[in-house]
Amino acid sequence: MTDKDDDKSEFYYPPDTLGLETEQMRRLGYQVVDMVVDRLARKHREAAISRAEAAQLQQALGGPLPEQGLSPEASLALLADIALIHQQRGDHPRYFARVPGPSSFAAVLGEWLGTGFNTIAASWAGGSGPATVELVVIDWLRQLMGLPAGTEGVLVSGGSNASLTAFAAARSTVGSGVVYLTDQTHSSLPRALEQLGFAAAEIRILESDADLRMPTTSLQCAIAADRQAGRRPVMVIATAGTTNAGTVDPLEEIAAICARENLWLHIDGAYGAPAAITPQGREYLRGMARADSLVLDPHKWLFQPYDVGCLLIRAGVLETCFSMNPEYLQDVRAGSGEVDFRNRGFELSRRCRALKLWMSLRTYGIARIRDAIQTGIGLAEYAEAYLRRQAEKWEVVTPAQIGIVCFALRGASAAAQRRRAQALTDSGFACVTTTRLKNRTVLRLCTINPLTTKSDIAETIDRLGR
Ligand SMILES: Cc1ncc(COP(=O)(O)O)c(C=O)c1O
Repeated sequence: MTDKDDDKSEFYYPPDTLGLETEQMRRLGYQVVDMVVDRLARKHREAAISRAEAAQLQQALGGPLPEQGLSPEASLALLADIALIHQQRGDHPRYFARVPGPSSFAAVLGEWLGTGFNTIAASWAGGSGPATVELVVIDWLRQLMGLPAGTEGVLVSGGSNASLTAFAAARSTVGSGVVYLTDQTHSSLPRALEQLGFAAAEIRILESDADLRMPTTSLQCAIAADRQAGRRPVMVIATAGTTNAGTVDPLEEIAAICARENLWLHIDGAYGAPAAITPQGREYLRGMARADSLVLDPHKWLFQPYDVGCLLIRAGVLETCFSMNPEYLQDVRAGSGEVDFRNRGFELSRRCRALKLWMSLRTYGIARIRDAIQTGIGLAEYAEAYLRRQAEKWEVVTPAQIGIVCFALRGASAAAQRRRAQALTDSGFACVTTTRLKNRTVLRLCTINPLTTKSDIAETIDRLGR
């Protein structure tokens, strides 16, 4: 039967479930491609971040629930011009706040295709193709991070979800007890422990040392004190790239303590772990591959659009914790060598976040991605050198560490520094935020966008100082 015959048969179905016509679908689809590519081509001319008043946004985007359909062209324009324009542009070359999201276009294509095909990666029987892409991508990421063959994983929405998943799985393996972290651990991790029912007395937050790293002597003392008090130490959480300053805990030493004390080692590399694919980053992150569970966020430094986080973890642990095989799923169970991703985390229905990673890893290749990460590391070093050249004006508070540098304007109060960051952000030229290190407010640049130039950095610092 040809397509033409099909059109006349009782088995003719229009392409859109709710009635858009084929040509209209194509036209709207191409329009979206044009809108996205046009925006990417001029993103450096936009403000690095913008927002509007709640009432103004409500008025433009809200209104009565439409009983009849409205023009999709007008709706797309409203989305682009009102909703999507009022947000942070994490891919803008002068977006330096928190952790930027410099996403790449090949990844966007993978995401679009998956959404267009309504892809599901929940069970092997219902999605063996997408599940295989996810398995391939997880193993590529494992290799990049240097973890042992056989390490398993799952893709989730981001770093906070990945750590939550890891903690649930680790607890089902090692049981409940005391967990050690520091005051520099990302706040989503202690929150995940609390949500999983760890008591406050089981969440031991150690004071970081002067370099904002986990002090291994305090760690050992705390473990010993807890054992002596009859408590049960179970896990250490180390960070490979803190959000505040890019600091890395002494991973080798912590791994040795965990091995000696028989503790689970979880490493949060949500932001910093991808640096390990560069020679400089690999040295800086030495010991990371000894993690029992490791988190990295491809939507940060592997150039993916939101959202995708990755958990890499010891084999078998996820399925032991999350397996769920009720009678209504009995026909869609994986056989040997096959994986039901619903049994590796909290989500049952889940899209395939691996498609975008697979597309971009294949399109750009690791060499290009490695260079892009190295560029980000180098830009923070350039910023540090630029600040040090004006030492009478600027103080470098923490040196450039895998793409983050923290600094302060000499003689300026905390409030004055916050005001300067806010004024620059309001101007639209760049987005810069402050943070607090050991109770001291500092300015901070996170420079992981490879499109950022040295002039962008210099002009941003100059404007902050003016
Ligand atoms: C070190 C670290 N861990 C965890 C997270 C949370 O990641 P997500 O926002 O992807 O959930 C972040 C976010 O910036 C982070 O920098």
